[in-house]
Amino acid sequence: MGEGVLKRPFSRVDGELCCGGVRAADLAERFGTPLYVYDVRRMEERVRAFHVAFRDIDHLIAYSVKANGNLSILRRLSAAGCGADITSRGELFRALRAGIAPGAIVFAGVGKTKAEIAAALEEGIYAFNVESAGELERIDEVASELGLCARFGIRVNPDVFADTPHEYTRTGTATTKFGVPWEETRDLYRWARDRSSLDPVGIDMHIGSQIVDSEPYVRALERVLTLVSELGREGIVLEYLDIGGGFGIPYDVESGMDVDALAAEVVPRVKAAGLKLILEPGRSIVGDAGILLTRVEYVKRSRKKVFVVVDGGMTELIRPSHYGGYHAIEAVSDGHSGEDVEVDVVGPICETGDFLARGRIMRVPEPGELLAVHTVGAYGFAMASNYNGRQRPAEVMVNGSEVTVIRKRETLEDLVRGEE
Ligand SMILES: Cc1ncc(COP(=O)(O)O)c(C=O)c1O
Repeated sequence: MGEGVLKRPFSRVDGELCCGGVRAADLAERFGTPLYVYDVRRMEERVRAFHVAFRDIDHLIAYSVKANGNLSILRRLSAAGCGADITSRGELFRALRAGIAPGAIVFAGVGKTKAEIAAALEEGIYAFNVESAGELERIDEVASELGLCARFGIRVNPDVFADTPHEYTRTGTATTKFGVPWEETRDLYRWARDRSSLDPVGIDMHIGSQIVDSEPYVRALERVLTLVSELGREGIVLEYLDIGGGFGIPYDVESGMDVDALAAEVVPRVKAAGLKLILEPGRSIVGDAGILLTRVEYVKRSRKKVFVVVDGGMTELIRPSHYGGYHAIEAVSDGHSGEDVEVDVVGPICETGDFLARGRIMRVPEPGELLAVHTVGAYGFAMASNYNGRQRPAEVMVNGSEVTVIRKRETLEDLVRGEE
């Protein structure tokens, strides 16, 4: 198969699931299972879609490293024009190691330690997105100790509800731990204005993840822009507005966020305020560019259920168990027949919560058959663990017909590294 034949990632050719110009079954054969497979061209295509949608405004796409922080992916996204949204010292390390310029990095998170703040200051990141008064005081202290000036924006908690598939992915209301209550934001900027180690340069929001409608962004943005103009009247003139990430993608039959429609709402408003726009997409860049290949070990029938036991479970992909996340699952090769029945696709972990799908209607696959779990490029490997003594899987990147192992499967020695 030649490159460029398949427009979308993971299409079928002659009944075989493929990634770019490579058969998924061949990848499983070469690298074993469970295996993460990414189509890097799809990721780059998504970055381009954001650049095009927001071309009328000075913007920074600060890719949210937490979604998938693999160095090779970060390098490619950096080359495609992304900066980074980070949430820890570890993500700062990853982003810098991948060659992302410090000046294109924003740092969010409610629990930044002194050491993390110092490291980010010393590297010269673009700005801290500050989540509390206590954090701002700490940044002031660390910056003055280092003789540096910290650029920051306050992450406003706009108290706006955005519907997401699970309550754990909603971050914009007053009942979540994120951001500074919008009513308290002005006082914090006023306090910071007089401090020589603090430079208020921006304002930030992030209202949740897997949001498919631009309406809650507009509601939150209006609130944030009101603050921007009030601050401007007091002489606190900002440089950037960060609307966060959270743009939804289709997992099942639902549609994802229409990025052009979002831009049509956001760009004129932010432009009118004279601000640079920062976006922090994670899932919408890498989510649908990844599949997890897993092999059926057993088919087990109880009086009430059919269990398809596969070699990947919650340690490889925790979203179904943690958030009730839906992932389409299909056989990698056509050519088997059988009736569709209701099954649970479960992993080998000793937890009843270890499943990839519950009550799924599908043909019962045979032991040894290969399955593909779709839309796992975001929060898949990134949330993988060693629970139950599991070795985290390999990750491969496909670029047309070129295949690169971008993370080796962990070895038994990896499991005990650092232990006495
Ligand atoms: C502050 C912040 N920005 C960006 C993101 C990325 O969200 P998504 O991957 O849904 O785009 C997150 C995710 O939780 C976040 O907490």
